[in-house]
Amino acid sequence: MNRAASWIAALTPAFVLGCSGGDASSAGSLAVGGDTSVGGAPNTGGTSSTRGSMTGGGTTSAGGLPSTGGALATGGANSTGGSSTAGGAPSTGGSKSTGGATSTGNSGPPMGWASWNSFAGTITYSIIKAQADAFVSSGLKAAGYQYVNIDEGWWQGTRDSSGNITTIASDWPGGMQAIADYIHGLGLKAGIYTDAGKDGCGYYYPTGRPAAPGSGSEGHYDQDFLQFSKWGFDFVKVDWCGGNSEGLDSKTAYTAISTSIQKATAQTGRPMVLSVCNWGNQSPWNWAPSISTMWRTSGDIIYYGGTADMNRVLPNFDSAQHPTAQSPGHYNDPDMLIVGMTGFSLAQNRTHMALWAISGAPLLAGNKLDSMSTDTKSVLTNSEVIAIDQDPLAQQGVKVADTGGLQVYSRVLSGTNRRAVLLLNRTTSAATITARFADLGLGATATVRNVWTATDLGSRTTSYAVSVPTYDSVLLIVTGG
Ligand code: GAL
Repeated sequence: MNRAASWIAALTPAFVLGCSGGDASSAGSLAVGGDTSVGGAPNTGGTSSTRGSMTGGGTTSAGGLPSTGGALATGGANSTGGSSTAGGAPSTGGSKSTGGATSTGNSGPPMGWASWNSFAGTITYSIIKAQADAFVSSGLKAAGYQYVNIDEGWWQGTRDSSGNITTIASDWPGGMQAIADYIHGLGLKAGIYTDAGKDGCGYYYPTGRPAAPGSGSEGHYDQDFLQFSKWGFDFVKVDWCGGNSEGLDSKTAYTAISTSIQKATAQTGRPMVLSVCNWGNQSPWNWAPSISTMWRTSGDIIYYGGTADMNRVLPNFDSAQHPTAQSPGHYNDPDMLIVGMTGFSLAQNRTHMALWAISGAPLLAGNKLDSMSTDTKSVLTNSEVIAIDQDPLAQQGVKVADTGGLQVYSRVLSGTNRRAVLLLNRTTSAATITARFADLGLGATATVRNVWTATDLGSRTTSYAVSVPTYDSVLLIVTGG
């Protein structure tokens, strides 16, 4: 379901239950307004009922039932590429240029932290500063994370007489440039957020601040993106609440935005990553790769006030399966991570992280970095998992086997005959899952390594089988001989 429907879901589960293809199971688990960290309850301001067609939608079944869904055929070896081709000769340089608007500064999908999942609309300079400090002290920076992304809530939609954005001085002393400078001073990159329409999500669905009319960039694209660039931002996420409400055409709006970013970069010399956030509406995987670095493929992974839930993670993973859209510098985005957030065990955090890594998805943590547990840190900073995610071929893992919800995903990695393999159990009991080397496009003999346990399992013939607990996974590196 799309963003607007998601908020309607939070308020009226019956609405969702009436929609086909929706992931209704999650609606029942929402604790609207129950998140003490952000305070306040969502308020739709009476406008939500007019928006949100049910589109995009996950492909998994609701209610925690095993899903054999997913957009991909279980097509066998050819879907992961033969061992000799590894998908042809993809560029590994991250230099694939789409006109200057999409540079990520490295070849892999963006890695960082974003404020939305833990703080919603309540962000201020001091909140972002504290998280940026913890970003460094917790080891995320050392592990390769770069971006500190300010999501919705920084702006109440006000402008001066020249149309320049104005912010609340007590929340953002020194304006937005000051926080960008602070983030840069830590050796990190800074991200900001707006909406493609006139009014942003903070108008339609306020979360901790009064409704913010005018909190979108429509009518000011050139002015706002130049402003973001001048303030020093390196990344901008552009949401779709206003665009959706106004019935704008996604491709047209985001192409205009990309052009404005290119113009801004030409003036300031600062590249700015464009993150398209229209929740998979109007199939962005068909047009966003040429104008952006990343594009959301589904609704939110967690709703305001909700808790972490595998029944949101798995549908978002499924909805992001568009392997032909992905290439170095251009990534399907199943949404920010909820690793380490309330409701998830260590095993669930690992599975979530592994799903994103096998996809080559952007890794934007959303937990509170200044209070994260050692376990959470170990998941977010696991260097082998990060290396899979950031593999320079940028190929998306694809499903190569599925026996009633016992699934095998394979991702072609750089090097010779290397695969990242995820064995995912979507059934309600523990079961043995077998990775057949032929399904991975490999020959009869291969060595196997368990990534999370960092254990070499030696050389195997034709396959590797292991018992996987219910709704759990095993992440492997399989290297053909
Ligand atoms: C949603 C978006 C979320 C978050 C939120 C802020 O539309 O998908 O990731 O940015 O808006 O209101």
